[in-house]
Amino acid sequence: MDIARSYSFDRFGDADRAAELKRLHKQATVLLSTELAQLQTLGFTPGSRLVEIGCGPGFLTGPLSEIAGAAGAVGIDTSTELLAAAKAVVAPAHAHVAFHPGSAYGSGLPTGSCDFLYSRLLYQHLSDPLAALVEARRIVRPGGRICIMDVDDGFLTLHPCPEAFRRLTSRALVAQRNNGGDREIGRKLPTLMQGAGLTNIRLTTVAVSTLDLGLAAFLDITTRFKAIQVGDAEAVQLAKELSELANLPVHDQPFGVVIVFFATGDVPGDTAA
Ligand SMILES: C[S@@+](CC[C@H](N)C(=O)[O-])C[C@H]1O[C@@H](n2cnc3c(N)ncnc32)[C@H](O)[C@@H]1O
Repeated sequence: MDIARSYSFDRFGDADRAAELKRLHKQATVLLSTELAQLQTLGFTPGSRLVEIGCGPGFLTGPLSEIAGAAGAVGIDTSTELLAAAKAVVAPAHAHVAFHPGSAYGSGLPTGSCDFLYSRLLYQHLSDPLAALVEARRIVRPGGRICIMDVDDGFLTLHPCPEAFRRLTSRALVAQRNNGGDREIGRKLPTLMQGAGLTNIRLTTVAVSTLDLGLAAFLDITTRFKAIQVGDAEAVQLAKELSELANLPVHDQPFGVVIVFFATGDVPGDTAA
């Protein structure tokens, strides 16, 4: 299976695995109601058959399956370990969810088998996002919708911005690119969707800031993975230095904001389900 070099959970060390699972949980739950509402606004209506590609431990797939109802939700991922966590924790808590191994490039799902396909924080790790969109287009029925959610480090900032944040962000950009990923994927999603032949392409954004999360959680979400991606002592030290900013009195802490991109496009053809 084509596992992204830029994100391979099963190759993390034990300590990084435990911390990363916590970070994914925080990242999924902290704005869960905002994300669920956003997806419903973008066309994921009750009764839609959902596929989530790159579902990881399924922290979103479970709640999304409650909206899908009996139509059902299927989570696909390349990580044996994250799928095991999804099956152990998420599947027993939701009636209409299933998890299967598969890749964004070859999911193993039948053609035209879902109404709405979602991927969150996956495309920044893919070396060939266009090929993944072509596979997504195959899985979605004509008239169905694809929604890709991701970030773009050109739209991530702290104010005032510590030098450590600038350095870690720019080193992570290079490291992720060297691993086949792209930390500036957000701005590219609409063009990629055009290339995959989708129609009715739209881009909406949600700003997530330290007002929503507090500085400690904001830094954990936006810097911990960067340190793992860069993978050297300097990066770990920069992330640690940044995390200590959360110990400052609140009025001395920097304000942080990241823009989350939701790009949607429709599979051409009949609109009937
Ligand atoms: C940053 S995690 C996001 C997980 C989940 N979407 C979330 O938001 O919690 C990226 C996910 O993509 C998965 N992944 C990496 N390469 C993949 C591929 N080629 N096809 C499908 N999933 C892949 C990883 O195993 C991991 O679960």
